[in-house]
Amino acid sequence: MKDRLFVWTILFLLFWHEGFSIRWLSLQHSTLHWNLSSVSNNPGRGIRSGARSPCGVARRRYGLAKLQAKLCRSTMEAMPHVQKAAVLAADTCQTVFKDRRWNCSSITTAPYLTPDLTRATREQAYVYAISSAALTYTMARACASGTLYHCTCAGKPDEPPNSNFQWGGCGDNIHWGVYFAKRFIDNVEKNNVDKSRKRRKGYEYDEDRKSKLVREEIAAVNLHNNRVGRRIIRESIQTQCKCHGVSGSCNVKTCWKGLPPMFEIGRKLMKQYTNAKEVSRYYVEGNLGKTRISDHLLYLSKSPDYCTKDVKLGSFGTVGRKCNVTTNETNSCRQLCCGRGYRTLVEEKLERCHCKYYNCCYVKCKICRTKTQIYECG
Ligand SMILES: *[C@@H]1O[C@H](CO)[C@@H](O)[C@H](O)[C@H]1NC(C)=O
Ligand SMILES: *[C@@H]1O[C@H](CO)[C@@H](O)[C@H](O)[C@H]1NC(C)=O
Ligand SMILES: *[C@@H]1O[C@H](CO)[C@@H](O)[C@H](O)[C@H]1NC(C)=O
Ligand SMILES: *[C@@H]1O[C@H](CO)[C@@H](O)[C@H](O)[C@H]1NC(C)=O
Repeated sequence: MKDRLFVWTILFLLFWHEGFSIRWLSLQHSTLHWNLSSVSNNPGRGIRSGARSPCGVARRRYGLAKLQAKLCRSTMEAMPHVQKAAVLAADTCQTVFKDRRWNCSSITTAPYLTPDLTRATREQAYVYAISSAALTYTMARACASGTLYHCTCAGKPDEPPNSNFQWGGCGDNIHWGVYFAKRFIDNVEKNNVDKSRKRRKGYEYDEDRKSKLVREEIAAVNLHNNRVGRRIIRESIQTQCKCHGVSGSCNVKTCWKGLPPMFEIGRKLMKQYTNAKEVSRYYVEGNLGKTRISDHLLYLSKSPDYCTKDVKLGSFGTVGRKCNVTTNETNSCRQLCCGRGYRTLVEEKLERCHCKYYNCCYVKCKICRTKTQIYECG
């Protein structure tokens, strides 16, 4: 036990400052106040950069990479939105995957990342893409809502309006969203590629070459998947309209370009997850730095089936997961429990029932016990 703790500590120290660009997802749990008054008790240290400034805390406690902390200091007013984006990414991923063996629960352990999110798997591809999409989305919306100093609504679209509407309202500013997401996420990953290249310069036949190259390739794949996430945001923008006129007659219609609910984008990206392509190290190596190597989500390592627990692979197993006996979907007991069978449990709930209205204004209910059967993977 002690040995294990020691190994983990060493690994932690080694990798903590290796910039994993999705560590910022840990901000989903943060209660930091992104305001300048919170650092005023720290005089003399540059108001935004003291160790106790929110950005310093975010770097130490929430695993922000160095470049991200820097951006935090220069654009602190964007940070509440970054935090919202972390929540949005985690919620969307968990909702989209809730009925599957891999259910995206590992996104909640950030800044500690389990191997399913570091080995360049298909799941990692999804998480990178959804994170980059969520950040782009949140920033685009924040611009439109007027809460950011650096951006405003998107300008009027180039295409002419047709005869029954005019451009107006306030479009989501995808342009700025993309710009910010690139700086916040991609720059960390690019820095990883550069650092790794520098380190192996002149050591082409080094024994270590293999492991270092892998890190560089993973960064390249992450960068690619980030781009896929941002592209899906660009492609999802749609014309939204509002009617004006006497009693809803829609005499005047104004339209703008806006984004659909994030869940829709998560679902679209799920299709990309299903069609993700495995690529070899050599393919990635040959295409490193090229901006457009594929339209698909890409991964380097095959995923386990996530049926049984395997800490080394980041598989939590499905023992104890609730399943559905009457369906053939991914959450069916047959699929979710991987053929191990399931337990039937009876769940008792207390519910209000037989409610009656009295006079005009109040309701009286009884309390009923209801029993439902639930099924759990063995
Ligand atoms: C600023 O931060 C402090 C905590 O340091 C907090 O008490 C205060 O409510 C924050 N102000 C705003 C406007 O969020
Ligand atoms: C997701 O899967 C994990 C591991 O199998 C499990 O502990 C957790 O309860 C699941 N979450 C949901 C919402 O089903
Ligand atoms: C199980 O799946 C069926 C068919 O999709 C659905 O009608 C039912 O509500 C589900 N049961 C539970 C407990 O979710
Ligand atoms: C579910 O799958 C089984 C086996 O493939 C099949 O026999 C059954 O008809 C399917 N049921 C439904 C409702 O699709």
